[in-house]
Amino acid sequence: MPLNVRAAVVHGPNQPFVVEEVQLEGPRAGEVLVQVKTTGLCHSDLHAYEGKVPWQFPAILGHEAACVVVECGPGVTQFKVGDHIIPFLIPHCGKCAYCQSPKTNLCVEAFARLRPRESRFSLGGKPITQLWGLGTFAEYTVLPVDTIAKVRDDAPFDPICYIGCGATTGLGAALFAAKVERGSSVIVFGLGGIGLNVVQGARLAGAKTIIGIDTNPEKESIARRFGATEFVDPRKVEKLTSHLMKLTGGGADYTFECIGLPLVMRQAFECTNPAWGTSYVVGVAPSGSEVSAIPGNLMMGRHWTGCYMGGARLSRLPEIVDWYVDKKIDLDSLVTHRLKLEQIGEGFEMMKRGESIRSVVVL
Ligand code: APR
Ligand code: ZN
Repeated sequence: MPLNVRAAVVHGPNQPFVVEEVQLEGPRAGEVLVQVKTTGLCHSDLHAYEGKVPWQFPAILGHEAACVVVECGPGVTQFKVGDHIIPFLIPHCGKCAYCQSPKTNLCVEAFARLRPRESRFSLGGKPITQLWGLGTFAEYTVLPVDTIAKVRDDAPFDPICYIGCGATTGLGAALFAAKVERGSSVIVFGLGGIGLNVVQGARLAGAKTIIGIDTNPEKESIARRFGATEFVDPRKVEKLTSHLMKLTGGGADYTFECIGLPLVMRQAFECTNPAWGTSYVVGVAPSGSEVSAIPGNLMMGRHWTGCYMGGARLSRLPEIVDWYVDKKIDLDSLVTHRLKLEQIGEGFEMMKRGESIRSVVVL
């Protein structure tokens, strides 16, 4: 018997979120039924909602969540009813060349999960897709076990859902992907929910100089609280890259683009140290866009790369939850709004206007 659950359904790109009762099939082999406790509104959900990344509708969006297992499908032994879990966009099959390589946090399956697959949700017999195999804008959802991590059950659901995507993407970019060393210089472009986590990651790594860049001057105070040693509003300096080269004494060791703008990606690349500087693309650029550079800027040894989900594997999530509980990282100041399922549309409007850092739906 399918379960009737409340979910925020989107019937087409840019159509309103409609909270309605949908049918959810029970878990099959290798899956669990979970109750969603909290779910964050992430920029990537917005990209899918606006049709900027291809997706099939009607859909239940949402991928950043903290949940409790309520039923295990056949053969599931790693999880039990009552476990607290966080889903992650990168599964861990454990068998593929990616899973077995220390060179990446990816799994070949991660690519497949970015395309619609058979969903467990339906409405009046018609399927509703689960965004990237998750679909957490619902009271309950069914998830494959290779894409969830069990976390300690004394951590509050709000705000650890944020560790399922945004927080880990930023913290991990500095700590797992770049592996920023003590004493380094770091520049972070874009001080939103991702960039501020790169800032706190760089601070944890012991970076000496952390320069935060944002066109919104209101980001200065929070960036400084999170560890930025300088703040630059790019519109207030004449030549941004030369200014940053000077500020870092010849180019930063690490830079991170956390906005998704190809032009800023190029600036971030150009203000790295010419011999060993590395620039990370973290923000998602619109599909079809391109980045370019002067070959001479690569010649001396600069690196231009990127990371997906902060270079983190699923197995890292429990540790990041520990960091939050042990107060090594601050997530509370970043969760600026708590919403009901009915307010998801409003939440995305606030995101677009730059009024929120992270909005979390509390179910
Ligand atoms: N230069 C500097 N800062 C800018 C610029 C610019 N040209 N344009 C925008 N910003 C700032 C905004 O003022 C904002 O503070 O970038 C920040 C972006 O933050 P958010 O909108 O909160 O976005 P966030 O959730 O951090 O995600 C950033 O990463 O995961 C991807 O899809 C996501 O592409 C998005 C990016
Ligand atoms: Zn996300």
